[in-house]
Amino acid sequence: MTDHERASKKTKTEEAKPEDTTLAGFAGFGSFMQDKSVQKLISETSAEYTVPTFPVDLDPLVYGFASSGGEEGAVHFGKPQKGNFMLGTEFFFVNHGAFGAVARPVFEAAQAWRRHAEVQPLKFIDRELLPLLVHTIREFAPEVGAKATDLVFLPSATVGLNTVINAAAREWNADDEVLSLSVGYASVRKMLDVRCGEVGVRHITAQVELPVASADDVVDAVSRAISPKTRFAVFDHVTSNTALVLPVARLIKVCRNRGVRVLIDGAHAPGMLHLDMEALDPDWYVANLHKWYCCPRGCAFLWARPGEQQAALRPLVISHGSGDGLTSSFVWDGNRDYSATLAVLTAIRVWRLWGPERARAYMQRTAREAAETLLAAFGTDVLAPWDMFGAMVLVRIPAQCAGITEDEEAFPAHAKFVQDTLFHTYKVEVPVKVAAGKLYLRISAHVYNQKVDYKAVSSAISTMRDSNLGRVVVCTKGGGCA
Ligand SMILES: Cc1ncc(COP(=O)(O)O)c(C=O)c1O
Repeated sequence: MTDHERASKKTKTEEAKPEDTTLAGFAGFGSFMQDKSVQKLISETSAEYTVPTFPVDLDPLVYGFASSGGEEGAVHFGKPQKGNFMLGTEFFFVNHGAFGAVARPVFEAAQAWRRHAEVQPLKFIDRELLPLLVHTIREFAPEVGAKATDLVFLPSATVGLNTVINAAAREWNADDEVLSLSVGYASVRKMLDVRCGEVGVRHITAQVELPVASADDVVDAVSRAISPKTRFAVFDHVTSNTALVLPVARLIKVCRNRGVRVLIDGAHAPGMLHLDMEALDPDWYVANLHKWYCCPRGCAFLWARPGEQQAALRPLVISHGSGDGLTSSFVWDGNRDYSATLAVLTAIRVWRLWGPERARAYMQRTAREAAETLLAAFGTDVLAPWDMFGAMVLVRIPAQCAGITEDEEAFPAHAKFVQDTLFHTYKVEVPVKVAAGKLYLRISAHVYNQKVDYKAVSSAISTMRDSNLGRVVVCTKGGGCA
């Protein structure tokens, strides 16, 4: 039985039991009515730790879910999972990778927490919230191979990435270099450019040639780009536009051997890939839970290596908990809605019902089979070897869909034209990307996706290809299409 399940089953007598209230005063921070500090609660051993009383009954939220079971008690993926999401039926939704989609019980849990908070706001915020947030970290950290004391929740990966880059930048000197990859996330490149500009540091972008021939090429590109001046590097675990699963374990080793600190941007990783922070051992790791882990928006985490890497971190928002340790500094950034974070407890249960390994295998297999179907229909190719894709794949589509020939270069405006047409005319939500002057679909597969979604993609693309034959769509490199 997990700590969380134990908590849900506490008896009234247990709930009423006063807990070490002897003259502890305001042992937490600010004027919160806490008898133990956040930092103490997170550091306690399981023997010392008492699970907080649960004011919300989370069990019923997963009852219906559990009963959608298949053989040997394992749940069926595909169509039966649709009801476990909030997604409507108007669109074929093949773009989980963009902003994720919340699992219904997790959404309901966030709503339940929100409702509970308003019944007696003071009681909730002053007396219940902080121990519950600490408890959520304690329950979630082992899911990603981390110690609770090394992981904090944040509202988004963007917040985490800025936090780490700011921390790292305090150690940079004017002559240093920082490194990122050409396939890295665009806003991260901007974060680096801003900080580099302030300190006078050079931002080197190592080029990853597209299409990618092998993971070795990425490792070689990084090895070549590191110089004696390189202090810091950022790599995506899964790249956004190109859907590549990068060989991050190898990249971390290369960097550590050369004295370079590494931040891994794992925005797409939780839910898509098996994660073990301690085994991977980067300097910092940032990830979203509101993407593939199916939490409500506003849910991400930052993991930091104990020692200098943790000590260097300052929250972007300084508040009451500052100065009392990592968890304390990050747990409260003002009087906002923390329901998404509390709902992580329910997300953990949902993932246990799916079976994380089975779910990941389904997602990866579905993405690959869908890509193979499209390849067979269009005689095209994928952007990288299969072992560099997870639950998203970049599949090339015929250039005729955008009214150009295979010899012509595709621009982002062509991609937008195709994506808009798929959206408006065919009710297919799938992103279209340009890589090396060619058009690609980035298909996603989560547990609710099924063959029919990709059939809709395939038939829309063939209709577009055929109907655009002989038709001229003029797109400009930076502009629109006519
Ligand atoms: C690789 C990568 N990093 C960072 C982010 C930013 O995530 P968020 O907008 O949730 O902060 C994304 C979002 O898609 C991403 O794909």
